[in-house]
Amino acid sequence: MSELRRKTITGYCDPISARPGQQLDFKVCCYEDGPYEADLVRVFGGDDRPEGIGVIEEVVAAPFAGARDGRFQAIHTGSYGSLDGQGGPVGRQSFTMQAMVQPTLPGRGLNPGRQVIMGRWRAGDETGFALLLDADGALALAIGEDGGGEDRGGDDGGRRASLSTGVPMRRGRWAFVAASCKPASGGARLVQRPLPTGPGDSLVSPAIERTETLAKNLTLGAAGSPFLFAVGHGAPKTAEFSAHFNGKIDRPRLAGRALSDDEMAALSRPAMPRELTDCILGCWDFAADISSDRITDLSPHGWHGQVVNLPTRGVTGHNWDGSEHNWRHALDQYGAIHFHQDDLYDAGWQTDFSYTVPEDLPSGVYAARLRHVGHRDGNGDGNGGGDVDRIPFFVLPPKVQATADVALLVPTASYMAYANTRQRLQPNLIFGDGHPEYVNDGFLASHPEVGGSLYDSHDDRSGIHYSSRLRPVLNMKPGDNRPWGLPADLNIVAWLSHIGQEFDVITDEELHREGAALLQPYRCIMTGSHPGYHSTEMLDGSATYLGQAGRRL
Ligand SMILES: [Fe+2]
Repeated sequence: MSELRRKTITGYCDPISARPGQQLDFKVCCYEDGPYEADLVRVFGGDDRPEGIGVIEEVVAAPFAGARDGRFQAIHTGSYGSLDGQGGPVGRQSFTMQAMVQPTLPGRGLNPGRQVIMGRWRAGDETGFALLLDADGALALAIGEDGGGEDRGGDDGGRRASLSTGVPMRRGRWAFVAASCKPASGGARLVQRPLPTGPGDSLVSPAIERTETLAKNLTLGAAGSPFLFAVGHGAPKTAEFSAHFNGKIDRPRLAGRALSDDEMAALSRPAMPRELTDCILGCWDFAADISSDRITDLSPHGWHGQVVNLPTRGVTGHNWDGSEHNWRHALDQYGAIHFHQDDLYDAGWQTDFSYTVPEDLPSGVYAARLRHVGHRDGNGDGNGGGDVDRIPFFVLPPKVQATADVALLVPTASYMAYANTRQRLQPNLIFGDGHPEYVNDGFLASHPEVGGSLYDSHDDRSGIHYSSRLRPVLNMKPGDNRPWGLPADLNIVAWLSHIGQEFDVITDEELHREGAALLQPYRCIMTGSHPGYHSTEMLDGSATYLGQAGRRL
């Protein structure tokens, strides 16, 4: 097989379906310099294999058509928790940070190998304070004064201090971890105490403790930065994050003085201990609001926050006893959040152009076609060279105005479940040697940052539980793909068009939101080729439609 054309442009749009009058925002990234040509096409076929029907498309006039400047847009993966506003110990205030954690990649984090469990830590210039795993996977406390790092040279020196247990934590094992510090005296203490993995597990290694006197009169830096879970802030003056933690965190706590062992034990209980009210700064319950992105503080301070990039919630906590497999039935045993350095919800790209669907645009499958002309002919086909990317979207008829007897229900929920599936990029018995066969598979192989599907795994080998369309979805693009999902369903579009059957296009997202009312006007609903994922609302909508004899008489 000849070498695959290398993609130099891709993008996504939000939303991916719209009715006349609604707006779509297109986000584009170029991986090489140079402008690109954008235009609007209506798509009737997307299978460009030699034996396929080809990419069949018709250009439609659109205001965004024309030459546009290309630009690179980065994707920052990795989930974390961020607390509202500023807070935590300042100056030379003593503190204790503690939690139950289950690291899944100890000693193998991205960028410099450190993984922050919690803290107010700027990894870029090493200021603030953090409870973390060091590059060896051992529990560590790091403290940095302002004025160091890139700005080093000031009279105050910007001192750095750290303490490590020196003993790597075990992958996939729960442990109680704590760090306390009295910056004024320099006193610091670390506790790394392995916990039983499950009922009957009595083979637990002994607790490790380290006590040391760090430099005296340390001043805690980064006072203006938010307190974070599972990540540190990145380079100064940027919105980047660094030193992601991989694994679960359960019952994180922050107190405004150095606690005794008994006090740490009291603070480890699920409810906030009244006797510590005077010194508690935050007592977070990750079992609260599991179905949302909210982080809830049980302390009187109400120091709440939110998780970013969809870490996995509703996962078993340190005290899960195996008796209940549904988090809704045993919230107290599902108080952990599983963070991953490769979680991704929203790529967050800037919008390059928008398109408001005109009133007279027929319902159908469309795409913004992007032809990158900034680099030389990559595939030698003489068509002017450059890469071509298509960002597909679905245009519905105006609300409750069916324009045909037939509706093609595009299974966008299933497209999301399989979005950027990487199953074929690993040698396996079903799919072969793992060598990418299509241009978009080749892109996925060299761009891990666009994330995987529900059929793939995170870097720590735990399964991916969430998907999103707020990122480039390569296997949804007409052309340069195996005929599966939308590229396959376009064969249905081609066939309907070929036989002269008029049809409207609707999607899972509208069925989820509007229910049976969406289906009601149609005599016939056609599904796509692999509609496998349904919300309760979608099933109820379909059942109601079918229960009313299905079609309009
Ligand atoms: Fe399936």
